[in-house]
Amino acid sequence: MIRDVLRMGDERLLQRSAEVERFGTPDLAALLQDMRDTMAHLNGAGLAAPQIGVSLRVVIFGVTSNPRYPDVEEVPDTVLINPVLTPLSDEMEESWEGCLSVPGMRGWVPRWTRLKYAGFDEQGNRFERTVGDFHARVVQHECDHLDGILYPMRIRDLSKFGFLDALFPGQDLPPEE
Ligand code: NI
Repeated sequence: MIRDVLRMGDERLLQRSAEVERFGTPDLAALLQDMRDTMAHLNGAGLAAPQIGVSLRVVIFGVTSNPRYPDVEEVPDTVLINPVLTPLSDEMEESWEGCLSVPGMRGWVPRWTRLKYAGFDEQGNRFERTVGDFHARVVQHECDHLDGILYPMRIRDLSKFGFLDALFPGQDLPPEE
């Protein structure tokens, strides 16, 4: 079921979400189906449970190659629960980011360039991946939602925060997360 996405200003986006304690349940399956439906409906690159008002540490993300965004690498469709992120170096890079909870806007956001992330899938199987660049950016953006952090809070130079169509007239940018 497609759910409403909370927008910046809603205090539910500012809370720390709780760990999932039971896996493989009908409730968790229903939550994930709603998240997939909502993300697909909005053509998003990722979605965190708090964005639909569910305060649990659950995120989904995935980006398939799209000729509109030739510079954006593919990211596998992933369900990540109770994630733990570990940066692999001090290196950070800045790039444009958008969020389904901040619709129509983009900001220039610093993120760790390379990191390891670990967590659990829907059935409670633990997995980990070492990733970089856009994949690493998407994971950091989604996991920030679980700690009540929205990307505008991380922008260093607010002159690089604005409406997509004003910043980049006539251009497409990667999808919102
Ligand atoms: Ni977001």
